[in-house]
Order: sequence, then C-alpha cells, then structure tokens
Amino acid sequence: MSLTDSIPNNVDLGSDRKLLRALEKWQPDFLSWWRDMGPEGFQEDQIWLRTAISVHAGGWANYDYVKMPDYRWGIFLTPRSGERKIGFGDNAKYDAWEEVPGELRGMLRRIIVTQADTEPASVEQQRHLGKCAPSLYDLRNLFQVNVEEGRHLWAMVHLLHQYFGRDGREEAEALLARRSGDQDKPRILSTFNETTDEWLSFFCFTMFTDRDGKYQLSSLSESGFDPLARATQFMLTEEAFHLFVGETGLDRIIRRAAEATVKDPNGDARNQGAIDLPTIQKWINFWVSSAVELFGGEISSNAADYFATGLKGRHNEQKKYSEHSGLEGIYSMTVVKDGRVTTEEVPLRNAMNEVLRDEYIDDCERACERWNKTIASTDLDFRLRIPSRRFNRGMGIYADHRFDPQGNLVSDAEFEKGCKTWLPTDEDRAYVKSLMVPCYEPGQFAPWIAPPAKGVKGQSLDFEYVKFTNPR
Ligand SMILES: [Fe+2]
Ligand SMILES: [Fe+2]
Repeated sequence: MSLTDSIPNNVDLGSDRKLLRALEKWQPDFLSWWRDMGPEGFQEDQIWLRTAISVHAGGWANYDYVKMPDYRWGIFLTPRSGERKIGFGDNAKYDAWEEVPGELRGMLRRIIVTQADTEPASVEQQRHLGKCAPSLYDLRNLFQVNVEEGRHLWAMVHLLHQYFGRDGREEAEALLARRSGDQDKPRILSTFNETTDEWLSFFCFTMFTDRDGKYQLSSLSESGFDPLARATQFMLTEEAFHLFVGETGLDRIIRRAAEATVKDPNGDARNQGAIDLPTIQKWINFWVSSAVELFGGEISSNAADYFATGLKGRHNEQKKYSEHSGLEGIYSMTVVKDGRVTTEEVPLRNAMNEVLRDEYIDDCERACERWNKTIASTDLDFRLRIPSRRFNRGMGIYADHRFDPQGNLVSDAEFEKGCKTWLPTDEDRAYVKSLMVPCYEPGQFAPWIAPPAKGVKGQSLDFEYVKFTNPR
C-alpha cells in the first residue's frame, strides 16, 4: 500500500514509471474537471469525509475533515486470492486473464468506458444540490457520494491507462470532455443526462440509478479479466454507502409524508410543508423506468457475447449458480404478441440483461416493502409500488407499446391521460423545487424530511459535518 505516492494506490504504481507518468499527466486534468464540474460553491469548505486508504475489510477507510479538491483519490484493487479461473461462459476453467486478450479488446474497452462515463456524469448531475441541502448530514453525504464517484472514475481510468495503451489514454481524456446533459457532447447513457436539481431526485438517483450500478459492478466483479474483477469488487464496498443514502433518504421523506398526511385535517401533506405520497410515487415511477433502461435490451446478442466470452457474468455467478455455461437454460420472457401480453422462451445467454434486471427489481421491491412498513407505522392506509419494468420505456421490446404502472397494455390515449397521475407534472416539479431551501444549522433538518436514525460513523446528528470557510 502506498499512500505517499502522488496517487495513493495498492497496485505498486511506483514500480511502473510509464503508467505512473501517464496517470500523473491525467491528474491535473481530473482536478480541473473537478473544479469546473464538481460540487459548485463548496470547494473551499471542510467536509467530514471518509477516504479509502486500504482494501482490508476492517479498516479500509479514514474519516476526517478535508477540502474536496484535496481529497486523496486513489487506485485500489481487491487483492488476488490465489489462482483465479474464468468462472463462466465458453472460456470457463482457463486461467483468468491478467492482460487483455487481443480478440476481446474492443468489447472490453466498451464495457470499461461505459461504466467509467457514469461516474463523472453523476457528479455533474448533482453539482448544484449543495445549495439546497436539507441538513449538514445530507450535505456531507452528497459530497461523500460525489468524491467516491470521482474515485470510481480513477479506478476505470487506471485500467484504461494500464491495459489499453494509446486508445486507453484517449478514452481517459474523453471521459473528462463529455458533459452530462450537453447537446453536443452528452454522457453515453441517457439516464446520466437527466437533471437532478432537487433532493427527491437525488435520493431516487442514489436508490435506483446507483443500484443499477451495483448490479453492473457485481456482474463485472465476476469478469474473467482479473484487473476489472478486482477493481469493481472494491468499488462495490463504496457503492453500498451510496445505496444506503438513497434508500434511507427516501424512507425519511416517506416517513415525513405519512406523518404530515395523518396530521393534516384535510389529509394533505403539502399543507404541512411535506411532499405527499402520490408525488413520491410519481418520482419512483419516473426514476425506476429510467434506471431499468440501463440494463440494455431484453433479448441481446451483446449480452450473450459478454457472457460467452467470460467478460461479464451474472450477479453472484459463483455463489448462486452451479451451471456456468449458460447454454442449458431458457428464459421465459414477457413479450407482446398480437396485441396481448404473453411469454416466449429465449435462450438464456440472450436474456442475460433480463436476468440482471430481475435481480435489480427484486431488490427495489425489498426496499419498497420497508418503506411501506414506515407508512404503516403511522396507521396511514397507503402503499407505494415499484412500477412494472414495462412502464414508460423508451428502449427495448416494450418501447413500441404503452403500459400502465401495473404493466397492463393501454392505448396511447389512456397512457397520455394516465401520465398526469403516474409521472411528475410541471406543477409537481415546481412544488418539490419550492421546498428546496437550505438548512445548514447542525442538527436541524428541512421540514420535508425526517432526521436519520443515527449520524455518520458514530457521530451525533448535530455534529458539524461541514465546516464552512465563509459563513452562510
Ligand atoms: Fe460509482
Ligand atoms: Fe455510486
């Protein structure tokens, strides 16, 4: 472990002068991207952040005050655990690759660049949120997520520089040149071009969009390309916190919504300065339908190739499955045929995106059940739901049809009409935005969100998670 190098790392950067020089050349470009596109208005403040300093489960992170531009973004790979074999597909049982196999170079580069592009994209999407944070606790969590997405970019750029030569260096530059939401040079995936300018969307993003990231990283952590497997394994340890922020953030908003509904004489949470549950449901519908697109086409030859070659496995490929060729199974896919919803059998390898989407949706439903328990604890009779994966799709086999949030086929006219109650309206967005007033007093929380159960890493709720250099 070298923490004294210009770039903290456990990949023995010091012994590879060429790689170190390439990364040292990229570093100032990264920092100037961070200053331009990172959290706006908070670069001089002291934030109580965790920094990855090792990969050991017991003590991998250090917590202290740091100015974000001084954050020590490092390169950490989960250590090798003996001889590793490729765990699935046509190359199963061969030794895992330590170098990029020539014939898989293009495919592997596309996988890494697509993952890498999401990391700076989310920082860009969230850059204005600090100005309307509901508490110092949340402000600090936002910045924690942001700096770690920056570190994930480092993790992927390291792979590009080390294993892809000149193309890799060019891709690493391009990652700092694209901009979320930009007309001319947008980020690669459309969800990462959506605006995230209020905190309900931020929590939906960290709940639903980051959760796609978890499943993508998990399937890459099974990869036969060992450096990618080890890089993504360590990213997952950081990612767990982002998902915690999203799931508990929504839970706190839902708690407040339910309490306000019960308290209000007319049962209207908005009268109490909270967000009402039907509005929260619309945000869930919007963000889930956007996030499920990230898994790619339902029937996909790309997905089949990724699996067959051993580059991208299933979630928990080794733990969960005993059959790793993917040649024996079939997948029963829901399709539309002759104007009806029915099922069709698809060879398993071609359905790998759908297999991963299933895991994702199960996980979202688990969280939704917890939120419903929170609502039930206030004696309010209201239940939130994860919308059907068929609802509001712009890509894939469902995109040519219209479905309601329960997944039933509806006409275009019914869909148009239903959208007013299913998806955020301009008026809903204006209401949510009107609540976005900063709350920077230690221990205080904006009225539309309940305090969390506990503070960060044993600190109290009124701990000064952010110390402002210029008082606000
Ligand atoms: Fe990330
Ligand atoms: Fe994340």
